[in-house]
Amino acid sequence: MANAQATTRNAIELLEEDHRKVKHIFKQFENAEQPARKKDLVTKAIEELTIHTQIEEELLYPQILKTGGEELHELGEEAYEEHHVVKLLMSELKNMEPDDERYDAKFTVLIENVEHHIDEEEEEMFPKIEKAGKIDLERLGHEMFERKMELRGQGDGISEMPEKVSSRANKHNGAPKKRAPRGAKSKSKARKRG
Ligand SMILES: [Fe+2]
Ligand SMILES: [Fe+2]
Repeated sequence: MANAQATTRNAIELLEEDHRKVKHIFKQFENAEQPARKKDLVTKAIEELTIHTQIEEELLYPQILKTGGEELHELGEEAYEEHHVVKLLMSELKNMEPDDERYDAKFTVLIENVEHHIDEEEEEMFPKIEKAGKIDLERLGHEMFERKMELRGQGDGISEMPEKVSSRANKHNGAPKKRAPRGAKSKSKARKRG
């Protein structure tokens, strides 16, 4: 079933699905009270956002900079900078505990940044990409799906992946490709627990 899903989602549908997922985690955080629960949700959000920003930066944004017109080019460059701010906040949060007095404030700022960024992608960037029609979104959707499975397989502690997809991805990819993507190094350095 996960397979069938993978073949029917184009790149934009796949990214928007990620956006919904992250927004759902944000909502849960807003209603959370227990420190352990907060920490769990922040960890989940960081895992999702790390993979999401990586696939956009590896597979989508370079194509926008290459094939997009002036407006898309500008949106692409802005998007890299917005990711940069979010990554900074994530790296700080990884080293904090929920009882830190700035923990909630920091995550709230992350939420605001991510929600603003999502709005820009969904309301400006994605419609412009669709309108320009220069990117094969079906094919890109497949590539993104494969890359996501690969990144999840690299031991980010994400356990929600369906078993079938996981074994399929492992069989298909063998050892994860060494692509040395932007920002990949900081992950192992910053991750201390779990
Ligand atoms: Fe996105
Ligand atoms: Fe993005």
